[in-house]
Amino acid sequence: MIALVVGSSGAIGTVVTKKLFDNNVEVIGHCFKNSPTSPVRLVVRANLSKVKEIRNMFRCIDHLDFLVNCAGVLESLEVENLTEEEWDCVLDVNLKATFFVIQEAIKKMTTGKIISISSVAGLSTETASRHPHYAASKMGIIGLTRSLARELGPKIQVNCIAPDFIETNLTKGTPSETKDKVFDRTPLKRFITPEEVAEAVMFLLRVNITGQVICLSGGRLMY
Ligand SMILES: NC(=O)c1ccc[n+]([C@@H]2O[C@H](COP(=O)([O-])OP(=O)(O)OC[C@H]3O[C@@H](n4cnc5c(N)ncnc54)[C@H](OP(=O)(O)O)[C@@H]3O)[C@@H](O)[C@H]2O)c1
Repeated sequence: MIALVVGSSGAIGTVVTKKLFDNNVEVIGHCFKNSPTSPVRLVVRANLSKVKEIRNMFRCIDHLDFLVNCAGVLESLEVENLTEEEWDCVLDVNLKATFFVIQEAIKKMTTGKIISISSVAGLSTETASRHPHYAASKMGIIGLTRSLARELGPKIQVNCIAPDFIETNLTKGTPSETKDKVFDRTPLKRFITPEEVAEAVMFLLRVNITGQVICLSGGRLMY
């Protein structure tokens, strides 16, 4: 089995890549400025904000069974200060690229599974303040997942994972008061880990379900 992990150099992508490798899945690791630190068969690079680079990246990929979309950017800004460039940057990398990566990936699949990482920010207004562009992009991934699940079944299953706050490079700018608030409102009194996201990816690779959103939360958000 061959998987493409988009964002395999990131905190979550690294653990997902390692988990796939440990389960005998060969991984093609996408990255941008950094490099994958988990074992990969091939490294591909693309700036996801450029659709042309996404299409070029697929030239050296012959076949795929799985696609895991783990790349993303997050910026938190007051709504009054959010510029068009900042809006476009987040929407391009998080949402537009997810679609165009999937559009290319399905050409390489006979049957397959596609998993994208959304966020609780796409599900709940509680976590969505100060980053409306991020929330919109993550809610967009949920809509994209459901629409594509309907269109691509029965051969291709499309699901997404919506994790709660995880301590990674992406969230390093989160103020400690916000982290304390998340922790206080979480019944399990712990944050989610990249390992748990990787476990959810493996679950979705094992089961036959489509169009679903797996919310990973210690109970702060309940659906
Ligand atoms: N951390 C959280 O609390 C959390 C919670 C819910 C959902 N998520 C989602 O999980 C995903 C991974 O998050 P993370 O915490 O692992 O973040 P991270 O460690 O910052 O990794 C981000 C990844 O995205 C890639 N990337 C960023 N901009 C790119 C661009 N323009 N072109 C191509 N690749 C680009 C990075 O590539 P390079 O490093 O090679 O440049 C890296 O592989 C994101 O979609 C995020 O929204 C995270």
